[in-house]
Amino acid sequence: MSAFISFSVVLFNIIGVITVLSENVPVPENVRVISINLGLVLEWDPPQTTNNHPFKYTAELKGWRGYDPVCQNSSSLTCDFTDNVTIFGSYQLRVRTELDGETSDWVETKQVAVDKITEISAPHVELRSNNGQTEVDITDPPMKRKNLRDVFGNISYLIRFWKKGESNKVKLKREQSRVMLPKVKPLENYCVEVEVLYLKNKTSQPSNMTCLKNSPSNETEPWLIAVMLLISFLVVLVAVLLIFMAVWYSYKGYRIVFPNDNLPEHLKQPNPARDRSNTKTLTSLHHLPGALEHAPLRRALIHPLNTCK
Ligand SMILES: *[C@@H]1O[C@H](CO)[C@@H](O)[C@H](O)[C@H]1NC(C)=O
Ligand SMILES: *[C@@H]1O[C@H](CO)[C@@H](O)[C@H](O)[C@H]1NC(C)=O
Ligand SMILES: *[C@@H]1O[C@H](CO)[C@@H](O)[C@H](O)[C@H]1NC(C)=O
Ligand SMILES: *[C@@H]1O[C@H](CO)[C@@H](O)[C@H](O)[C@H]1NC(C)=O
Ligand SMILES: *[C@@H]1O[C@H](CO)[C@@H](O)[C@H](O)[C@H]1NC(C)=O
Repeated sequence: MSAFISFSVVLFNIIGVITVLSENVPVPENVRVISINLGLVLEWDPPQTTNNHPFKYTAELKGWRGYDPVCQNSSSLTCDFTDNVTIFGSYQLRVRTELDGETSDWVETKQVAVDKITEISAPHVELRSNNGQTEVDITDPPMKRKNLRDVFGNISYLIRFWKKGESNKVKLKREQSRVMLPKVKPLENYCVEVEVLYLKNKTSQPSNMTCLKNSPSNETEPWLIAVMLLISFLVVLVAVLLIFMAVWYSYKGYRIVFPNDNLPEHLKQPNPARDRSNTKTLTSLHHLPGALEHAPLRRALIHPLNTCK
């Protein structure tokens, strides 16, 4: 039994040695293209070998002129091509391992178009509440290049909201980045989650769930309006009555002080500055010779006061 195990170990060792001798530098593993927010990054894992060699890597980009190195002789396990591509172009990438001047074969990716493969990160969401209404304010995720709308045209937002603690979610699809939540109740806690919809049916990552207690409504109730109307009507009524009574009793008082229907003393004073007014015409008449004796004319002229009786 133990002899068999030793034999296996020896065999394994021999195979291992042969492998190392027969291969040059091993290729990078798990090579993948990552595109988030219109960036373009190549990532890979180091070759799986028993001993940790100080591997270096070179990654290249194939445009229409052929391959150009972007990351050269680098120990990093990623290479960022974002600044070397246009969003609407189509590209192929490749990477190889390098060790002590020796190089592995290339590992080549498929042809990729950034705008087709890119993933969009979550939008930022803020809630504001005012007057019993809740407004969702959406900020697009920042792009590595250009602007979300410049690349995808009219994007839209998928908004889900629900009363906190309830599972029934309302879905809205809106084009504008500021949206009033419909039919929310005052003083209830609402939670909102938003995704960006682009390229017809692709969605961004969902935003952080954001919750806010809706503000109290200060919309006036109909019965309150009726009560206010009634109160103001009563106030006006009382005011009018008071004014009427004040006028009435002043007049009564005046009749007591001047029982003989005489004009108050100050009205009789001539006042040249006010000669054009009615009262002036009246008082001027008093100073005409014989005017005081002309009772019917005088009575007619002070008619406004007399009819108040
Ligand atoms: C790669 O970098 C290492 C050190 O980082 C250096 O010794 C080596 O000469 C470089 N090789 C090439 C081909 O540039
Ligand atoms: C890639 O972009 C960087 C930064 O703009 C630039 O320095 C480099 O020369 C470019 N490489 C290629 C191969 O175009
Ligand atoms: C989500 O929340 C985390 C932690 O609070 C924060 O770091 C991150 O920026 C938020 N994401 C967005 C898109 O607002
Ligand atoms: C905008 O979106 C609508 C559907 O949401 C679509 O029918 C229309 O073609 C889009 N317009 C542009 C310019 O992308
Ligand atoms: C999105 O639309 C494309 C074609 O326009 C289709 O191939 C794909 O399956 C759709 N994806 C989803 C998630 O509906």
